[in-house]
Amino acid sequence: MKKIKIAPSILSANFARMGEEVKSLEESGADIVHCDVMDGVFVNNITFGIKMVEDIRQATTLPLDCHLMIVHPEKYVERFAKAGADIITVHWEACQDNLEEVLKLIKSAGVKCGAVINPDTPVDKIRDVILMCDMVLVMSVFPGFGGQKFIPSALDKLREIRAIIDESGKDIDLEIDGGVTAENVEEIKAAGANVIVAGSAVFKAADRAEMISKLKA
Ligand code: DX5
Ligand code: ZN
Repeated sequence: MKKIKIAPSILSANFARMGEEVKSLEESGADIVHCDVMDGVFVNNITFGIKMVEDIRQATTLPLDCHLMIVHPEKYVERFAKAGADIITVHWEACQDNLEEVLKLIKSAGVKCGAVINPDTPVDKIRDVILMCDMVLVMSVFPGFGGQKFIPSALDKLREIRAIIDESGKDIDLEIDGGVTAENVEEIKAAGANVIVAGSAVFKAADRAEMISKLKA
């Protein structure tokens, strides 16, 4: 069993106090900072871009996991890498036939790469690229907003991808994103996820450290 890592999503942070928010995650035992980049085109919401990632890089030593929910991610990969991303994940829905090429571009920018699928996209769409990824991200909500309800069909996808990864013997992370709570995290881990994104669960918790250790335990 791979080590469980908690990646709070700063989508639920106070953007006007981002430096402090990220520090508080670090002090609360987070393993990764999950940065949700949205362009208002690929998804129906707008968050932040390269400059924010660059500034967060100055505020923490935690790895930055940049989840790009944007059209034409290939245009921006290099700049997110330069800004300090440690891993960049891109959607099959944004890249389609270009996905393999975009993943290679991320690697050649010197950072880890990951493929993402939406709740209505089957594992088949990314099957051929799974083993070239450093991480695979299964969305358990439709991207765009925090605080949505976990879609249980993501569990089958986790099991399917975990089997492929384990059979290969490769060291590939499997991440889940959307609707994770202290109540459903057990079955999510049992299905094979080892990187757990949690936005509202962490940011709405009275005690962030307690919530992070609950999610990890
Ligand atoms: C959704 C984002 C998620 C989101 C998760 O588009 O990719 O990272 O912030 O938030 P919660 O954990 O609240 O579902
Ligand atoms: Zn995300």
